[in-house]
Amino acid sequence: MNELSNDILSALKDIVGETGWQAPPDDLTRYTKDWRGIVPGVTSLVVKPANTDEVAAVLAHCNAHGIAVVPQGGHTGMCGAATPDAEGRQIVLSLERMRKIIEIDAAGSTMTVEAGVVLADIQQAAAEAGRLFPLSLGAQGSCQIGGNLSTNAGGVGVLRYGPARSLCLGLEVALADGRIWNGLKKLRKDNTGYDLKQLFIGAEGTLGVITRAVLKLFPPVRQSATAWVAIAGPQAALDLLNAAQVAFGERLTAFEIMPDIAIQPVLQVVPGTRHPLGRAEPWMALIELTGPTPGDDLAEALEAFFGEQLEAGLVSDGALARSEQDRADFWAIREHVAEGEQSYGGSTKHDTSVPVADIPAFIDEASKRVRAYMPEARITAFGHMGDGNIHYNVIRPEDLSFEEFYEHVPEINRIVHDCVAEFGGSMSAEHGLGQIKKAEHARYAPAHELEMQKALKALFDPNGILNPGKLF
Ligand code: FAD
Ligand code: MLT
Ligand code: ZN
Repeated sequence: MNELSNDILSALKDIVGETGWQAPPDDLTRYTKDWRGIVPGVTSLVVKPANTDEVAAVLAHCNAHGIAVVPQGGHTGMCGAATPDAEGRQIVLSLERMRKIIEIDAAGSTMTVEAGVVLADIQQAAAEAGRLFPLSLGAQGSCQIGGNLSTNAGGVGVLRYGPARSLCLGLEVALADGRIWNGLKKLRKDNTGYDLKQLFIGAEGTLGVITRAVLKLFPPVRQSATAWVAIAGPQAALDLLNAAQVAFGERLTAFEIMPDIAIQPVLQVVPGTRHPLGRAEPWMALIELTGPTPGDDLAEALEAFFGEQLEAGLVSDGALARSEQDRADFWAIREHVAEGEQSYGGSTKHDTSVPVADIPAFIDEASKRVRAYMPEARITAFGHMGDGNIHYNVIRPEDLSFEEFYEHVPEINRIVHDCVAEFGGSMSAEHGLGQIKKAEHARYAPAHELEMQKALKALFDPNGILNPGKLF
């Protein structure tokens, strides 16, 4: 990639206008420091285009001059995918000014939005129109829909609604050379050749910049039942998941598991949180049923179900949400687990997925191997049990400093990811690869798979200006 000359910088500033850019000496930390603070970068320019034409013009100019562009949404990603590198020659293209909700088509159950709309604003707009947009994750107050699509985000509703990929009907994308691809369709069925939008979804900004999207909406949740229960461990969680799936079918919307080590720091660092069971339990599950029909009594059904599971010994204690406030309080704990983990001051994250039925064996085996390598390692295995997606994170032992622990991180990652591979799993279930997992990906992906992916990259971005250093 080329140097950013003063001429290039001025031309880019002219494209986006006076209010559309920031540069040093402004404080650019929020654009250059990733959420976890483990791969901070540097940039000489952040452009904030106001519309698709400005995005396209920035890309055309950068493409002509060999300037690297890092597309950025809410910058909440876990793998450093939206962070520029340390050289200072990559510009950041933030979508934050493109936050219009363009249309809500209630009759067709779609919403058309600009890429920079914050996820929580989309959820809110859908609710105001009497619909549901079901993508839901802890970062929803700051992540943007363009980032959600570019990472194919998962979250806590995948069991019922699928990941971001299955919630999108159409896209508009600015291509590396400045052309605009208009795939902004509302169609539920369309077999005209390759489904190009699916290539941009999950591409982490390496194939084009998503500028608009058509999203699927669903009937609103008219009632819900939420429970926080104590379980013996991952095997009990699996048995309980199966029993709940058989009992409730698609009304089972969320099934999350957490060990005590995941929630203790939340209770300490997040004001207003308290343990739903009133005392520590080694393992817990957060389970939610939702339904569009007000008639069914889901709370009663869930209570009866847990009565049976208590007798069967799969559950040892539990609390049902008795009000919307209880429900919000339960979810607040779950949604802050990542923030709680940060307070341990050093951890390595493994965003694993394995076949659902293998989760208990996987957690067991990985833990044996990690403890054989580092006996004092603190393991927090939590998350989206219903999707086979466990965040198998290893926290710094108390007697190691952050720096000492990080020397061991490559070996710990290798141990866990080898184990994932043996279970036929994925080492990136929902977070992507970004900068921090690309080497690991290269190790596990078959050579011809990488060749096909690189060929696609070369086709869409022959000059390699889009988010270089990510994925490969
Ligand atoms: P960014 O971090 O800004 O960018 C992510 C990637 O997308 C980068 O490669 C970037 O270049 C690219 N990108 C961004 N916008 C565009 C665009 N318009 N066009 C092209 N490329 C673009 N993730 C989950 O999947 N499930 C969870 O449950 C979950 N929980 C989280 C909880 C917390 C507390 C936090 C901090 C993060 C969590 N995440 C979770 C990770 C993160 O929120 C998601 O990956 C989210 O989708 C990223 O959105 P963003 O707007 O912040 O994207
Ligand atoms: C979550 O499910 O809370 C996230 O994906 C964040 C994490 O892995 O820490
Ligand atoms: Zn997650």
